[in-house]
Amino acid sequence: MATGQVRPHPAMDGRGHAPQEGRFGRRKLLLGVMGVSVGAFMLSFTAVPLFVTKVLELAVQEIAVGDQLVYSAVGLNGAAAGTPVRAGDLQQGASVQAFPKGKADNQQNLIEIVRVAAGSGKEGLVAYSAICTHLGCVVQAKLLQGQVVCPCHNSHYDPASNAMVVSGPSPRPLPSLPIDVGPDGVITAAGPFSAKVGVE
Ligand code: FES
Repeated sequence: MATGQVRPHPAMDGRGHAPQEGRFGRRKLLLGVMGVSVGAFMLSFTAVPLFVTKVLELAVQEIAVGDQLVYSAVGLNGAAAGTPVRAGDLQQGASVQAFPKGKADNQQNLIEIVRVAAGSGKEGLVAYSAICTHLGCVVQAKLLQGQVVCPCHNSHYDPASNAMVVSGPSPRPLPSLPIDVGPDGVITAAGPFSAKVGVE
C-alpha cells in the first residue's frame, strides 16, 4: 500500500460501509429487544389486573353459616376483642358489635347484636348489619332509648321491629342476620344477611 493511503478498517467494506451481515445482525437484535418490550408492556395490562383481582378476592371474606360471632372491640364485662359473644353476656336492652371469627378484615361483616324482649328473635336476641343503609356509616354499638342510631345523619332503627327506620334519612331497614345459640351459649351465624349490606 502506498504511503498516505488510508487503510480500510477490517470491519468495513471497501467503500467504508459496515458489512451487510453486521447491519442486519444489529437490526435483528434491535427488533428482538423491541418485541420483548412490547410483549412485557401488553402482559402488564392482563397479568397485573388478574393478580390484583385475585388478591382482592382473597381479602374479602363473607359471613357464612356456623361462623362464631366475636367481639369487634373490648366487649361487655371487659371481654377482649376476638372473644366469642355469648348469649348470657347481653342483658335486656344491651347491644354489642361483632365480626364473624377470622373475618374482621371485611367491614361489611360488622354485626349489631341486641337483646330484645323475651320471646323475640333467637332466645331474645336479634342481629343486624351494623352498616347504615343511608351512606354506609357504622351505627353506634350502644342503643339510644332502645334504638340503633347512626351518628352520621342521625338515622334511628328499631331493633325490636326488624330494624325498621324510625327516623332519619335511611331508605330501608338494616339487613338482618339469622343467628343460632350453641349449647355453650356462643352465638353463631345461621345464614347470610337478608339484604344487601350498606348502600344499595
Ligand atoms: S350514613 Fe347513617 S344516617 Fe347517613
